[in-house]
Amino acid sequence: MSASRRKFLAAFAAAGAMAAAPSAFATTSPWSLGVENAPAGGFPDAPMRRIHGRAPAGLEGSLYRNGPGWFRYGGSSTGHWFDGDGFIQRFAIADGQARHRGRFADTNKRRIEMERQSIVMPGFGTRGVNQAPVANSDSMNAANTSVIVVGNELWALWEGGSPTQLSRDTLETAGIRTLRSDLAHMPFTAHPKVEPNGRIWNVGFFGQRGIIWRLSPNGEVEDAQTIDIGQPSYVHDWAVTERHLIIPLQPWLHERMTAPMVEGFVWRGDQPFRVLVIDKNDYANKRIYELPPMFYFHTGDAWEEADGTIRFDLCASRNAHFIAEEARSMIRQDIGQSPSAELVMAVLHPDGRAEVRRSGHHGEFPQTDRRRQGLSRDLVALVDDRADNALGLMNWRTGAFDSFAFGAHQMMQEHLFVPKHSGGGESESWLVGATLNARERASELHVFDAARISDGPVVSWRSRYAAPLGFHGTWSGA
Ligand SMILES: [Fe+2]
Repeated sequence: MSASRRKFLAAFAAAGAMAAAPSAFATTSPWSLGVENAPAGGFPDAPMRRIHGRAPAGLEGSLYRNGPGWFRYGGSSTGHWFDGDGFIQRFAIADGQARHRGRFADTNKRRIEMERQSIVMPGFGTRGVNQAPVANSDSMNAANTSVIVVGNELWALWEGGSPTQLSRDTLETAGIRTLRSDLAHMPFTAHPKVEPNGRIWNVGFFGQRGIIWRLSPNGEVEDAQTIDIGQPSYVHDWAVTERHLIIPLQPWLHERMTAPMVEGFVWRGDQPFRVLVIDKNDYANKRIYELPPMFYFHTGDAWEEADGTIRFDLCASRNAHFIAEEARSMIRQDIGQSPSAELVMAVLHPDGRAEVRRSGHHGEFPQTDRRRQGLSRDLVALVDDRADNALGLMNWRTGAFDSFAFGAHQMMQEHLFVPKHSGGGESESWLVGATLNARERASELHVFDAARISDGPVVSWRSRYAAPLGFHGTWSGA
């Protein structure tokens, strides 16, 4: 056995301890509420009821969120959580009050399936019917993963095809947003990165090929190039520094073309977790680093130090069990036992060495102060939606971890940094996000003070209904 292989097997054994925290999660989990169909007509704009505290003075704007919101027609259902139709929500805060609305993205997929009252189109974990009318990737675009405000437009994002353009106010769908006619239907992930100057970077992947998008703040394509990433890893999220693009290549590989797509992936736990680092100014100038095998969905952000050391945090699991198995069974209301991911820091040294530093804290949906995208920072927020149902805030510089647990009846969703005022530091932020209260069967909106998470929310509002769990969102100030 080679030294490097021994090293990786030893690291894998260590990683086995990672994410070994017991989960209180069981088949009776209230998560089933989060994967029920939303009303076909959505939720019209309506006030939310304030149930706790007071809205901070000056906090005005909208939290837009997206996630799958329609899973089944009678006996016909999607095969995976990630294949539900995109349901976009807007939580608007103004004058101390909050309002909520929700609406489905009016996609080709949804139109066909509503007409036939059956799941028709193939998806990531859905087989689809024989001879489903698929002309291109956007035929089955679910527009269900995230949302971004670009100029005056709101885009619902998927990862296998184009953005879908919506009204920022009514959430009405305008249609597929083709970024450049010769690149129609090319993948554009749900995790674009916006530099402090407004420039938007994104990537998309198909097998071991990728596309690197560079867009102006108004969404015009400045550059788009295809690259070879060397292996057909599942890449859901990535990172940027001021000088580099960071593309993590985990050992969950798309080795076979099959339907549904998820069954063509194989976990290669004897292979390293590679990290491809590409020079923003010269895509041919790239390096590969190797870390112990692990699975991840999300990074926090990356930054680069004066000596060239690159750091990026991510939520890492022992393997791909959740995406390969549990996110499929949960549609059948059969919720499994996958443990939480652990927040870790990847450190890429200038001499080519790389290491993972563990935090000991578990959770997902890491969020950072987006004003510092690609720049050094201390804080990352994450939600533990599996064990404690908590919002946590890690300070990498001091090692401090502040958290607040809602209890088993609340399902946590991503909380976003919203600056209290311009020019403040990271901790001078509100953390704004939603939960799904299974006991009350209602969606809630919460605002925390990033400087005092353990005090609990400074204000909370509740809807009269439960909206499906979402994935990601964005904040747009008033
Ligand atoms: Fe994501």
